Amino acid sequence: MARPRVFSGIQPTADSFHLGNYLGALRQWVALQQTHDTVYCVVDLHAITLPQKPAELRRRSRVAAAQLFAIGIDPDTSIVFVQSHVPEHAELSWVLSCITGFGEASRMVQFKDKSAKAGADTASVGLFTYPILQAADILLYDADQVPVGEDQRQHLELTRDLAQRFNHRFGKTFVVPGPYILTEVAKIADLQDPAIKMSKSASSPQGIIDVLEVPESVRRKILRAVTDNEADVRADETAKPGVTNLLRVYSALAGESVASLEQRYAGSGYGTFKKELAEVVVDAFAPIRERTEKLLANEAELDRLLEVGAAKAREIATKTMTRVRDNVGFLPAR
Ligand code: TRP
Repeated sequence: MARPRVFSGIQPTADSFHLGNYLGALRQWVALQQTHDTVYCVVDLHAITLPQKPAELRRRSRVAAAQLFAIGIDPDTSIVFVQSHVPEHAELSWVLSCITGFGEASRMVQFKDKSAKAGADTASVGLFTYPILQAADILLYDADQVPVGEDQRQHLELTRDLAQRFNHRFGKTFVVPGPYILTEVAKIADLQDPAIKMSKSASSPQGIIDVLEVPESVRRKILRAVTDNEADVRADETAKPGVTNLLRVYSALAGESVASLEQRYAGSGYGTFKKELAEVVVDAFAPIRERTEKLLANEAELDRLLEVGAAKAREIATKTMTRVRDNVGFLPAR
């Protein structure tokens, strides 16, 4: 039996992935290689739905790819590629946009959030059609499952609707993907505001820990993380959200249960707990940072890996597009 295929994507819009990305998704991308056929994409077409500086986008795309390899995504096992290297994404996105209702697209809450932030008049049409491009990403590869966080659920629902609608109207063309519910993922909160998710767009620099961050800065941020006026290291989502978040990070990285950590740090106060947590984070990220730097130092080799990934991706994508063109009624090109 063939393994089920997963597809997922991440935007190259930061100089580093952060702890929330890592524990909330990327670590599962690595694990899924054991059980699934895995296709992972650096989604630069999605990145330009908000303004990007060209040199920065180029650099960040390489940094994103290098980090994926550095965390353990194996280019011989997974297909890892950059979205703009496979023109079929944009092509399928156009076709899908023609079967998407304007009202349907208007209901996407992430667009409402992002366009409100950008200022309604500056938001681009590309930002509006972002979820349709995301549907194209997924459907091009016949993905069975899509590991995503809660915030992407609506986009995945749209993808399923579009796949079903297309299949119904034009004949069986797409695999209808299901969500891959990320079990055992730790949802990581902002270190300065544990009420919000750690996120590049919402968090302050003090609230985020980058995967590529230097150890001194990691230690400083953890020592300064918001806790509470008590002193006991104990998980309590409502009364002690800061400490609970730190316990969750510790548990996820050290592979030790929260209950066992509570026991170990009973009576030791926040200082010791934070100091030791900082070392756990530093130890987890230092090798990733080293490997990322090594990969970035050899740009030609990194670009070659991405070229190989794009070739493998394209092999699948062109087959899907042939079915799409045929079923829609486009004349074969000669
Ligand atoms: N929208 C996703 C995010 O912001 C990124 C993404 C783009 C994606 N295309 C995808 C995720 C396809 C899963 C599948 O996280």
